[in-house]
Amino acid sequence: MSGLILKGVTAGYRNRKVIEGFDLPNVPSGTLLGLIGPNAAGKSTLLRAISGLGKLQAGNITLGGTSLPALTAAKRAALVGYLPQSLPPQSPLVAYEAVLSACRAVRGDLTPAQAEAAIAHAFERLGIAPLALRRMNELSGGQRQMVGLAQVMVREPKLLLLDEPTSALDLRWQLSVVEAVRNAVRSSGSIGIIAIHDINLAIRACDMVAVLSRGRLLAAGDPAEVVTSNVLAESFGVSARVEACSQGVPVVLVDRALH
Ligand SMILES: Nc1ncnc2c1ncn2[C@@H]1O[C@H](COP(=O)(O)OP(=O)(O)OP(=O)(O)O)[C@@H](O)[C@H]1O
Ligand SMILES: [Mg+2]
Repeated sequence: MSGLILKGVTAGYRNRKVIEGFDLPNVPSGTLLGLIGPNAAGKSTLLRAISGLGKLQAGNITLGGTSLPALTAAKRAALVGYLPQSLPPQSPLVAYEAVLSACRAVRGDLTPAQAEAAIAHAFERLGIAPLALRRMNELSGGQRQMVGLAQVMVREPKLLLLDEPTSALDLRWQLSVVEAVRNAVRSSGSIGIIAIHDINLAIRACDMVAVLSRGRLLAAGDPAEVVTSNVLAESFGVSARVEACSQGVPVVLVDRALH
């Protein structure tokens, strides 16, 4: 069964192409893909194009053999969950209500008891149950970011697109949140793409890594094989080493900027 396939994806703004001819052969079900690349490489533009919020100028995106651009907006929204790079807005709602409204938006078929169970599961999975009755406008930035993630996860989409979901999180939460996403993706057989600047976290927690550079795919595959000194020099313009840490996990150490 085919997973997510991108063919010749071209996307941008007005007449400007940011992503051009982007191919991703096959991301299988149950995979968490880390999308890395420098600022302005086009990561957010690509995620928006896959989600359907950004316009696809050319190419196609299929999920399990279904062409996403051919779907109605409602059908696509039921399949694809997208967390933007910006934090969820301040609001007087408590976190539980914010997640409930996200759940109702695409899972109108659930009974109140089923919705309640799905919401509790999302909070527990992310380890944020104590936030459920706190007001959104009284949460810290990182706490709000985690509630935003719960809003996407409660929808149980087949394709989860997360744009820097750990940008506001501390060390402990960065790892536990990405691991929670990976476990969710694995257990449900869905697919997750996570744009992320912390390459070491991507290596550690993602099943695959794709490197985007100037709108093009530089490399994709097993994190330990893809993240090399050469790829880091070409994409980020840095001289870096990839060394095995004491537990055998590859770790990137940046020595200097190249230019
Ligand atoms: N709304 C917009 N209108 C016009 N150009 C845009 C818009 N948003 C982004 N761009 C441009 O598209 C290019 C890619 O931006 P994008 O936000 O996709 O990069 P990114 O890889 O997500 O970067 P970052 O790591 O900083 O989030 C940049 O040159 C940016 O200036
Ligand atoms: Mg971005």
